[in-house]
Amino acid sequence: MFRYFGSKHSSATQVAELATIGFSGTTAADAFGGLGTIGAVLKGRGLKVTTCDVLMLPNAFQHARIVCQERPRFTRLRKITGLQTSGAILEHLNTRRADRSWLVTEFSTQRQFFTRSNASRIAGAWNAIKRWNEDDLLSESERKYLLASFLNSMDPCANTAGTYYAHLKHWHRKALKPFQMKWIPVQVGATGGQALVGDALDVLRGKTFDLLYLDPPYNRRDYSRYYHLPESLASLKQPDTNPNRASGVPIQMLDASSLIRRSVEANYLQELIHSVHWKRLVVQYCEGSEIPMSELRNMLNKAGKLQEYVLPALGYTTTAQARQHQHHIFIIDKAPGSFIAGKTITQAV
Ligand SMILES: C[S@@+](CC[C@H](N)C(=O)[O-])C[C@H]1O[C@@H](n2cnc3c(N)ncnc32)[C@H](O)[C@@H]1O
Repeated sequence: MFRYFGSKHSSATQVAELATIGFSGTTAADAFGGLGTIGAVLKGRGLKVTTCDVLMLPNAFQHARIVCQERPRFTRLRKITGLQTSGAILEHLNTRRADRSWLVTEFSTQRQFFTRSNASRIAGAWNAIKRWNEDDLLSESERKYLLASFLNSMDPCANTAGTYYAHLKHWHRKALKPFQMKWIPVQVGATGGQALVGDALDVLRGKTFDLLYLDPPYNRRDYSRYYHLPESLASLKQPDTNPNRASGVPIQMLDASSLIRRSVEANYLQELIHSVHWKRLVVQYCEGSEIPMSELRNMLNKAGKLQEYVLPALGYTTTAQARQHQHHIFIIDKAPGSFIAGKTITQAV
């Protein structure tokens, strides 16, 4: 899966299990959806899921995993292009080349993000998707499913340590493997959900969900800068690459930056928790982040009956690091019609 800061890929099943202990609701919202990881597991458990994010890159993944109930049929595309099967569509995308693309010049020749051969293949596939979209051959689900599949296939050949803020000095062995477009798996659920784009507070204010899951950014790291290239590709826009920046970040940065910085703060979370109607609130947060754990615990304790779980920090080896990166899962149940002054129960799982 695409490498994404804060992705809960490795802990999603465990988190969803904790989130749904003793829970009987049917709707859930994931306000800071990222790649839609938790939303997809909740959808698989039969919930009708709504996700939200400020960026188009995560929205493409969320749409493919949360909204789509099956691989889109590409009916109009098939009819007009004669590409009769999903295999023929993949084959078409995998055999495109665009040696003169801006992507080759700016992200291979000038900056070693991709080998020249991969940059040409990636640009070729992207040009085809962009053209199909401009020719009105794709529905929203088809466009987003294609883009999520494309970005998920591109990321493994990026010569990076995980984000697009810098490329590696030497070619990583994975970057040398040829780009090959594959379909992203679809998560089947009882019903398809919604994937909304925008600021969580604006988009979810006043809405009602049985379960509200919050996995906010843990620090002021700007996702729109770290993932600038896939974000431009997901938006089907050629970026206005800054020639003076080694990262290739566009000259004009996205409007989302200020919204991402705002959502890091405690008062933003506080407002969100009080603006959305929920029966159960689940907050996942990491030690050593922007909001001190004691401040967050106090805030959540006032919202309902609180239980707290600590997840072992998988992937970290030293004790100091493990402690620093432990994840806390707060589960808050609201009594019908009122807030209960919370009693904290801490458990390690
Ligand atoms: C910690 S990540 C979530 C990761 C996600 N749980 C997953 O497993 O992939 C936080 C996400 O919040 C998004 N975000 C930041 N500020 C936001 C805001 N104001 N409204 C909605 N989403 C926001 C970021 O773009 C990022 O995708």
